[in-house]
Amino acid sequence: MNDKQKVPVAILISGRGSNMGALIAASLRSDFPAKIVSVISDKPDAKGLDHARGFGIEALAIPRGGYDSKAAHEAAVMAALDASGARIIALAGYMRLLSGEFVGRYAGRMINIHPSLLPAFPGLATHERALASGCRVHGCTVHFVTEGMDEGPIIEQEAVRIERDDTPDTLAARVLAAEHRIYPVALAMLARGEVRMGGDGRTQYSG
Ligand code: GAR
Repeated sequence: MNDKQKVPVAILISGRGSNMGALIAASLRSDFPAKIVSVISDKPDAKGLDHARGFGIEALAIPRGGYDSKAAHEAAVMAALDASGARIIALAGYMRLLSGEFVGRYAGRMINIHPSLLPAFPGLATHERALASGCRVHGCTVHFVTEGMDEGPIIEQEAVRIERDDTPDTLAARVLAAEHRIYPVALAMLARGEVRMGGDGRTQYSG
C-alpha cells in the first residue's frame, strides 16, 4: 500500500507517548492501512513530541494554559486537527475530558485506549483499583470516544491475568504491553472500514 492510499491519522497525547510510538511503528509497515500525519500534546514537555519529530511527523504543543477557556483551547486543537487533514483521531494517554462539541465533531472516527477491561474501572488509577477489587483478570480496551468518560462502544480488548504478587507497577507493565498490541489492531480495523460506531452503543463489525 503506498502512502497516498493510507488513511491519515492524528494522535493526541499528554505524556510519555508509548502507545503513540506503537501506532507510529505499526504505521511504518507497508501493509498498515493508516499513516500518522500529526501528533498534538496539551503538555509542551510531553516526551512523545520529540519521539514523533524523530520520525519526521509534525508534532505540536497546544497547552491549555495558553487559552482563557476550555472552549478556546479545544477550538485551537480542533483547528490543528482539521488542518492536518486527519480522518481518524487516536487518543493515546490524552488526559483531558473532551466537550460534547469536540466529541460530536469526530463522532465515529475518534478512538481511545484505556488501561482496564471496560466497563470495569473507567477513570484513573485503574491498576490500583483492579488489585484492590480482588479480581483475577485485568486488561485494556480500545473504544470509540463518546461524551461519557470511557463509555464508548468497545472495539478491541486484551485480558491480562493478575498474579498474586503483582503490584500496580508490575501489572501496569503487562497491561501496557497489551495496549501496544491491541491499539494498532483496532486502528487498522477502523482505517479499513471493518468497524463502525453503531447507534445502539455497540460497535458494528464487517469484513
Ligand atoms: C496508557 O496506559 C493509557 O491507556 C492511559 O494512559 C497511559 C498513557 O501511556 N490512558 C488513560 O488512562 C486514559 N483514560 P503512554 O503515554 O505511554 O501511551
